[in-house]
Amino acid sequence: MKIAIAADHGGFALKQQLIEHYQKKNVELEDLGTYTPEPVDYPDYGVKMARHILDGRADLGIAICGTGVGISMAANRLKGIRAALLYDDVSAQMAKKHNNANIIAFGGRTMAFDDVVRRIDIFLQTEFEGGRHQKRIDKLDEE
Ligand code: RB5
Repeated sequence: MKIAIAADHGGFALKQQLIEHYQKKNVELEDLGTYTPEPVDYPDYGVKMARHILDGRADLGIAICGTGVGISMAANRLKGIRAALLYDDVSAQMAKKHNNANIIAFGGRTMAFDDVVRRIDIFLQTEFEGGRHQKRIDKLDEE
């Protein structure tokens, strides 16, 4: 599975920590920026990540801004994107099980590193249930 990661300046530090953490486990996160802590605009990174997923260049995106709210809003503007803010362990599990999210979002200023890693791992270990949930996520992309 290919995983990409993107952040604005509010998520930059957490992005760097996650890249390093998963590198130690031999899991490469493709880094879509931002590459410095200088202020940037979260919509640019949410949309960049969304296009990356829609083009099939990654199977899952991790998107981070200060709260995770802005960058998930930006990504969700593109049809076919299901960006979910994983605000606790249950949302991490259900975002895969019921929503089959293709982008998971976090807050670099609002969430602790260990909580974020645990939620990513829960998400990755959970299976999408399909069935009635597939019918519901299909409705998200109707006109
Ligand atoms: C940037 O200051 C901040 O607004 C942004 O990172 C994010 O939290 C927006 O939702």
